Amino acid sequence: MSESQDPDALAATAARTLAELTGVERHDIALTLGSGWGKAADVIGETVAVVPAEEVPGFHGSAVPGHSGTLRSIRLANGAHALIIGARTHLYEGRGVRAVVHGVRTAAAAGARVMILTNGAGGIDPAFGAGEAVLISDHINLTATSPLEGAHFVDLTDLYAPRLREIARNVAPEIAEGVYVQLPGPHYETPAEIHYLRAIGGQIVGMSTGLEAIAARAAGMEVLGLSLVTNPAAGMGDPLSHEEVLAAGRAAEPRLAELLSRIVARL
Ligand code: 6GU
Repeated sequence: MSESQDPDALAATAARTLAELTGVERHDIALTLGSGWGKAADVIGETVAVVPAEEVPGFHGSAVPGHSGTLRSIRLANGAHALIIGARTHLYEGRGVRAVVHGVRTAAAAGARVMILTNGAGGIDPAFGAGEAVLISDHINLTATSPLEGAHFVDLTDLYAPRLREIARNVAPEIAEGVYVQLPGPHYETPAEIHYLRAIGGQIVGMSTGLEAIAARAAGMEVLGLSLVTNPAAGMGDPLSHEEVLAAGRAAEPRLAELLSRIVARL
């Protein structure tokens, strides 16, 4: 299969380019930093190299404000290397599901055994307040698609690794845990849809992460998922204004960066 047809070959090419451009042969862990989580890139370790995403095969510049559009290589205090994927592709951008999970596959091809996926999400469970970090315990994929093709039957029991969730709970004993629902977006949900999502067991809702987690698991990585509740979902009490949502995100950023620092130091 040619590289244009085979997503794993494209990821292998991207990983080689990344190694050339960063001078780092192998990345041990990878993080995708979603809304509210970006500051972690400045605090988890020492930046070795920052590469514009367009220079790496299969990546695109970021379409979403708040995503840096870069791949960043960071050396952690313990000497391990972390890859920060600041160029997430969302399903709603229309590039297809292969593009959505290319970053995860590239991280796996670059050697990463742990994939940390973060996002900003709407709160469905009334116990979750804006500005709160929630550990993803499981997900419901309502995108009607999969990143896997062919007879590739991957078990998703414990998709969000119990070992990594325990590490997160050890550094943040008060952290909430919940089931994440991924929808394709880009529109938000109606109140009736949120009512339905709550009825089927959803606690937080967003437009990323689930498909990436599946691809990471299929590539043999351990997955940790973390959401920042940026706002209550539709129909869940008073909707915050956009300014309040942004302010909640900004206020949470140092706390979220500290949380991720403490987690990666224990991996
Ligand atoms: Cl309420 N819904 C979805 N799908 N994504 C979100 C959100 C809600 N809030 C932040 N991201």
